[in-house]
Amino acid sequence: MLAGTHGDGTAKALRYQIELGEAFAAEHMVEINRVHAPLTELDGDNWFISDLLKSGARLKVIATTNPIYDVQYLQSIGSPEPEAAARLISDVKGRFKEIGLKPTYNCTPELGSNVPRINEIVAFSESSSIPYVNGIIGARTNRESAKSALAAAVTGRVPVYGLLLDENRKGNVLITVAATLRDAFDYRLLGFAVGKMMGNGIPVFEGMPANPLPEELKNLCTDLNVSAAVAMIHIVGLTPEAPTLDVAFGGKHPDRHFTVTDADLDKCRADMSGYESGKIDFALFGCAHYTIEQIKQVAHLLEGKTLASGVELWVLTSPQIRTMAEELGYLETISKAGGHIMGGGCSVMPVWNRRFDGKVGVTDSLKAKFYNSAKNISFRVMRMEQCIEAVLKGSC
Ligand code: F3S
Repeated sequence: MLAGTHGDGTAKALRYQIELGEAFAAEHMVEINRVHAPLTELDGDNWFISDLLKSGARLKVIATTNPIYDVQYLQSIGSPEPEAAARLISDVKGRFKEIGLKPTYNCTPELGSNVPRINEIVAFSESSSIPYVNGIIGARTNRESAKSALAAAVTGRVPVYGLLLDENRKGNVLITVAATLRDAFDYRLLGFAVGKMMGNGIPVFEGMPANPLPEELKNLCTDLNVSAAVAMIHIVGLTPEAPTLDVAFGGKHPDRHFTVTDADLDKCRADMSGYESGKIDFALFGCAHYTIEQIKQVAHLLEGKTLASGVELWVLTSPQIRTMAEELGYLETISKAGGHIMGGGCSVMPVWNRRFDGKVGVTDSLKAKFYNSAKNISFRVMRMEQCIEAVLKGSC
């Protein structure tokens, strides 16, 4: 492959991976069947994919993509994107499709569009997906970048280092959950609070509810990666590699131990919510992308109601889940109330600058607030139900 038997583009991608592997002291590479890659409009990433395309590279394995945004949808609601932005998005999507990525435009592939099996080695990017893939499903991935994920999809291989090795997957921080987790929002607070307490490492959670929902685990993984960078977690009794505390720690003692109480979650809510009562302009849901169950909840809360005058509501999900929401009537309910479901959008897309500059929004996502903190947009973070009450009143 390195000699060009699979084409120049594949040889180029492999050379990049060999250098990456050498940087992490990888001793060999392993074949894979599955990749999830970010869809970025950054110059360096665009140069890399364009260079691979020019050299004839095409994907070898299943590869799905993270969201970017739906210019046609904005056009259809009378809010066209500036020509340069529309062209950039179209060019980026075109390049990724040309090389062979599946246009899923979704940041929760592990919940439907690209689900690894237990023990499978994969190459996933997206910080909220990686701990889910490693710690909930029990597959193995390193934290891939746009370039390394793309190169892996072209060669169908990854260098073996980091979290692909047994010895690097053991926990080192014990987290005793003494807080009551009432709903999916509390899992976000738990993730954020734990990330803040421990910083980086591999947490082992004990004392968690026995049967958490996928949405709850998704929230935990998402907001854990807002306050820290955590690619692997263990939940005792749930993570395939953590049948017991002792196994999760590989027979060693934890380096550190934290107990999370209701007071910690309350403090996190108080510190991070940015809560202030007053007029609001919009609600933004779906960072990470909402599942059909979450969209059902929004539709149920909006049934027969109308958003307050001048207030917007946006739900982000994958184009495929949007189609399902349409089929099930949730899209119609949300649209009738005055809200939007955007398929394939992200909470940090530049369109929000143009739409919400200087405005106040509500969201249930600490990640959406944090990622937009450099913009002139003010977010209050609260439960989904409270956000819906706020958009119906126009204030919180
Ligand atoms: Fe998804 Fe974008 Fe949030 S990729 S997790 S909606 S920052």
